[in-house]
Amino acid sequence: MSSTLFRTKNVEHSIRDTEEPEHALKKSLSALDLTVFGVGVIIGTGIFVLTGTAAKNTAGPAVSLSFVVAGVVCALAALCYAEFASTVPVAGSAYTFSYASLGELPAWIIGWDLVLELALGTAVVAVGWSGYIHSLLDNAGWHLPEALSGRDGASGFGFDILAAALVLLLTAILVVGMKLSARVTTVVVAIKVAVVLVVIIAGAFFIKSGNYDPFIPKAESVEAGGNLKAPLIQLMFGWAPSNFGVMGIFTAASVVFFAFIGFDVVATAAEETRNPQRDVPRGIIGSLIICTALYVAVSIVVTGMQKYSKLSVDAPLADAFKATGHPWFAGLISFGAAIGLTTVCMILLLGQSRVFFAMSRDGLLPRFFSHTHPKFRTPYRPTILLGVIIAIVAGFTSLSELAELVNIGTLFAFIVVAISVIILRRTRPDLERSFRTPWVPVLPILSVLASLWLMLNLPAETWLRFAIWMVIGFAVYFFYGRTHSRLARQEQQPADSPDVRA
Ligand code: ALA
Repeated sequence: MSSTLFRTKNVEHSIRDTEEPEHALKKSLSALDLTVFGVGVIIGTGIFVLTGTAAKNTAGPAVSLSFVVAGVVCALAALCYAEFASTVPVAGSAYTFSYASLGELPAWIIGWDLVLELALGTAVVAVGWSGYIHSLLDNAGWHLPEALSGRDGASGFGFDILAAALVLLLTAILVVGMKLSARVTTVVVAIKVAVVLVVIIAGAFFIKSGNYDPFIPKAESVEAGGNLKAPLIQLMFGWAPSNFGVMGIFTAASVVFFAFIGFDVVATAAEETRNPQRDVPRGIIGSLIICTALYVAVSIVVTGMQKYSKLSVDAPLADAFKATGHPWFAGLISFGAAIGLTTVCMILLLGQSRVFFAMSRDGLLPRFFSHTHPKFRTPYRPTILLGVIIAIVAGFTSLSELAELVNIGTLFAFIVVAISVIILRRTRPDLERSFRTPWVPVLPILSVLASLWLMLNLPAETWLRFAIWMVIGFAVYFFYGRTHSRLARQEQQPADSPDVRA
């Protein structure tokens, strides 16, 4: 049985699958489109919302260092992602890469994990978006009934109707086709980047150097009793749970890591890229560099404008301007954030439907989901199914714990990708790689260690939830995927098939 669990999908086979007309996606994206997609999905709730929470609760002004730490972890992973994306340019990202290198079970694990990352990530961002819209509506004097404003703050029944409506609207746009969504994305990304630049440039004039003192606040122990909420690393070593100090920088890094999620999504659009070998690595690395620079600048400016302990947790960038007596800047920023979060949601939705599509094309999920729309050529069935589920989740859940669950899933995917780079270099040295990760195996090993380090800085309860999701995934694989997989069916045919290597 172990040979079936680790059967690999031949890389040429993966590429050939994408050329079957009934299952083919349209190839229309360029490197610039991918970079825009990248920036479009990367800048979002992370910088607009989590910066305040992380500075106020765990890192102080040193949150800018947390962004550097998270950026380094992502850069290491990006260099591994870029090699894989340029070698196996088909839909599905880390899922496809691991199917070609590690085998079917690891590929299933990673695909299942990616659906969690992208689907819950969409829900998190939709809820964040709805918060900004509420704040704009409040400014205009309009208030939604409490029961339709979301779970937070509602006594009894609470459904976030705005978050759910956004997800459903974006689902419809994605069903109609990439072209429209890419065009919409470009305009929105321009607005979002402009707003971030306004924060950096205008905010720089309101910095007070006293706000940086202390830059790394002294460690403070947290009351006992919340052990499951403490970072796993603190429990493992029997340390008293604490915030701030040097360890606080890493705790905050594991939270603001959410701000970087998305560069990996660029790889999920490889199959829809005109020249994936050249353009996917450019798109991934380009978007990551731009965002890291912006994040570090924004966090330095915001913690310089307002004392970290006074930062707001709902809309820290806008509220820092209110605190310095410039409310109209705050309105502008809220407006841009609300628009910007729309694209983040859309691209996460796009990414998760593509992973689901790739998994069903391989027979690990029902093949029903792998038929593209006859007219729009989009994977409309998984897009609609998951869109509706996410809309319900976004309507009924609150934000912060979901974000940590998304982070752990993503970091886990980074680890699998880094290991896969090393394995594929050994098993398929012949494959053409238009982008090669430097210093293999040292760099991928560093990437594994760095991702693991951030994972260990997440709360124990997040690990528990992640484990439960993975156990459900194993059950689905053993009861469905293992026997329905396309490779399994090919194995039952003449044993000399060139595409199947056990
Ligand atoms: N990086 C994205 C955000 O911060 C997911 O919203």
